[in-house]
Amino acid sequence: MVDTIKALATNPESSTVIKGRRNKHFKLIETTYRSNIVSDYTEKIEELDKNFKYSSNSNCYWSEPEHSLLYGTPIYEAASPSQKIALNHLHWFTKYNYTAETETETVAFNQITSSVFRTIGGYDTVCQELDLETQQEYSHIHAFRKMGLMTAMALIGKKPLQNLQKSHSYKSSLGNNSWVTSQYYALRFLAKNMLKSKRQYYSQYLSQLEEKEKFVVTTPTKGILGRGISTSWQGFFTFNWGVGSPFLACQYYAARMMGNILLKGMEYPLVKYFRKLEKQGEFIPVPTAVSYYHHLDEAYHTTMSKVLSKDMYKDFPKPTAYEKFIANMSIYMVQQASFGGLSGVFPHRYLKDDRFLMTFIYELLQSPLFGMSRREALHWMNQCFCYEHEGFHLAIENHQRLLSDFRRFFNDLGYLWSVNREMRLMALGGDINQALQNNIKTFKQFSRLAVC
Ligand SMILES: [Fe+2]
Ligand SMILES: [Fe+2]
Repeated sequence: MVDTIKALATNPESSTVIKGRRNKHFKLIETTYRSNIVSDYTEKIEELDKNFKYSSNSNCYWSEPEHSLLYGTPIYEAASPSQKIALNHLHWFTKYNYTAETETETVAFNQITSSVFRTIGGYDTVCQELDLETQQEYSHIHAFRKMGLMTAMALIGKKPLQNLQKSHSYKSSLGNNSWVTSQYYALRFLAKNMLKSKRQYYSQYLSQLEEKEKFVVTTPTKGILGRGISTSWQGFFTFNWGVGSPFLACQYYAARMMGNILLKGMEYPLVKYFRKLEKQGEFIPVPTAVSYYHHLDEAYHTTMSKVLSKDMYKDFPKPTAYEKFIANMSIYMVQQASFGGLSGVFPHRYLKDDRFLMTFIYELLQSPLFGMSRREALHWMNQCFCYEHEGFHLAIENHQRLLSDFRRFFNDLGYLWSVNREMRLMALGGDINQALQNNIKTFKQFSRLAVC
């Protein structure tokens, strides 16, 4: 509570204005927590997960056809009706496989930051809500992984999955690579010194992790914070969010909000599909229902990300130049690592098509689902990755929509650099010609290795 009181005393705004603002967001947090406790969406997901059988859901679409892997590509145009349904199911699998990665990150960061709020004191409901969210994420992750794997195994078998797993598996170079380890220690030393005055709120959870793991990279994933960001920087951000700065603990939720907005954009069409089937009295596939209830659970999480990152941070003293720098670097790096490109084959992927993705498609085309030879697979991949088609235009539409959602959210966060407020790095990645140039180069290297 100390910082809150200090903020009230040193803030030039009148104390009535500050108290009014605090009451407003405390009320919203309380309502969110109460509604979340009485809701039964997680229980519904657990039940659906428990009884899921792919064979009982295999003959129908789980979402509108444009939410299918390879949609708009020449392969999709040539695919049979049953292959098209399979690509629709594989889209659910790949998207929720990635969602499970980002929610694994959430589990770690919820606990780290909640521990800071607990030490500050006076934020009990925030901590209870974050603990509840963590428990819900465990159930979500279980459902996504189990149902997704059952689906993918039934459709394409083990081999493409093993490679996908490899691209998602995490091997920390900390402790193994001396350059990365010394970079981590240098960054940690910097954070520790720059935030010396905040150490009284040091996250207990973080300190236990440090004792156990030696390093604080707690994100063994490739979610939005883990993907494309070096392990020393991941550890650095983790340390900053948990080291005791109330501003930075709140600011983590601006980064989490990027995941919330991304998920909402991908999931809302599934909610509409669920409602359409329900209205027409048609069979609702289990994965569609899981998406629907997940969307409802996540609405509470999104509210929390918003209120912590946009309102609650104002309870504390204004950020120092160092804290502003960390906040900006985190958003800048997430922009670059997770939203810096465009995919021609995944309608909701905001990254350049890379070798991992090409390997997955290559093996998918040779799996029993398509049964192609190596040569045929390479021929079709060339058509899909290196030539303009409807898939790229759909990707641009999704990219533009997500970009404006991000801009709407970040627009009034005064401490952000304009490159972050305007999502300039992401905007640069939304270019079909650039995506094609990248794909031509990557595919050339990929096909050279594939024929060896
Ligand atoms: Fe979730
Ligand atoms: Fe969530």
